[in-house]
Amino acid sequence: MSADLRTRYLGLELRNPVVPSASTLSSRIDNLKRMQDAGAAAIVMQSLFEEQIEHEQIEIHRVLEHATESFPEALSFFPELEDYNTGPDAYLRHLEQTKRELEVPVIGSLNGTSRGGWVRYARLIQDAGADALELNVYVVASDPEVTSADVEAQYLDLVSAVRASVSIPLAVKIGPFFSSMANMARRLVEAGADGLVLFNRFYQPDIDLETLEVDPTLHLSSSEECLLPLRWIAILRGRVQASLAATTGVHRWEDAVKLILAGADVTMMASALFRNGPEHVASVLAGIERWLDEREYASVEQAKGSVSQANVADPMAYARSNYMQMIVSYTSPYDWRQSPAEPRA
Ligand SMILES: Cc1cc2nc3c(=O)[nH]c(=O)nc-3n(C[C@H](O)[C@H](O)[C@H](O)COP(=O)(O)O)c2cc1C
Repeated sequence: MSADLRTRYLGLELRNPVVPSASTLSSRIDNLKRMQDAGAAAIVMQSLFEEQIEHEQIEIHRVLEHATESFPEALSFFPELEDYNTGPDAYLRHLEQTKRELEVPVIGSLNGTSRGGWVRYARLIQDAGADALELNVYVVASDPEVTSADVEAQYLDLVSAVRASVSIPLAVKIGPFFSSMANMARRLVEAGADGLVLFNRFYQPDIDLETLEVDPTLHLSSSEECLLPLRWIAILRGRVQASLAATTGVHRWEDAVKLILAGADVTMMASALFRNGPEHVASVLAGIERWLDEREYASVEQAKGSVSQANVADPMAYARSNYMQMIVSYTSPYDWRQSPAEPRA
């Protein structure tokens, strides 16, 4: 009998642990259906961005102010902001349509950094039918006056505000750059996160040597990048009372299996789907199933977390212990232990 692939994420019963993460792939219903048909267990929608909402609100206020200065009665021509056919409104309509057309759970996504009027969109995403909400907090703390405590308070404040406005499960997607990642994870859960999505991949601007301009090109990830979420999921498994999702670097079925062993409830993919198409989900799933069968695991649940920090013979392997040993034992043709006359092959 084949291994049982079912998993539980944010309280949702999913048919397996492979979920397309938030991306522009979800902006088309045909893509979403292809991912579902290939076996995707749930879908995370592309984010609705704080900037997008605020931009629309500023524009509408500008139009309204201008109109009402000239013709006070014009106000009555403008519907309520929620009903206005704006970017955010189109997002909510698309979410409603996605919910109608897909059978798998649909997770809405909200992307922002600060508490503000836009936070009410969490409720509107819930009202549009989302089964859960993922809050992507993408802060690049670049002001030297702002302390790490300030930044952390900003995250917690935002998570509490969103938690207070929805009753559906809430996942929080964060980056890895905290002085004490495990403590921050715990406090996010205390502030109301039902799950953590680890990790946001911060896009790194490059410099174009021809134009000397900052080049914000987006590069897709590679498989090696999944080692960062792997470590932290392994460390956090059993230490926070929350679901754990892995994002960044999940390309192959091997990546997904490792992350499940580390303790991920679901593994999320974006770059791999852009590279290989929506049907790639099926080959990742087939690989996971094959591996579990060959190793005689009865289920994903059985494998989940079996190589987490709490379950390995050498827990320090996930921390610093092997660091020095690894560095000094690394060999190359230029190794200081080799004679220059006899470089290694
Ligand atoms: C083209 C593109 C669009 C994305 N859009 C979003 C988004 O709207 N919201 C979000 O939280 N993450 C977004 N992401 C980030 C992905 O969800 C994912 O976390 C990141 O790409 C790392 O995973 P990967 O290695 O599988 O690509 C996007 C990524 C790509 C490549």
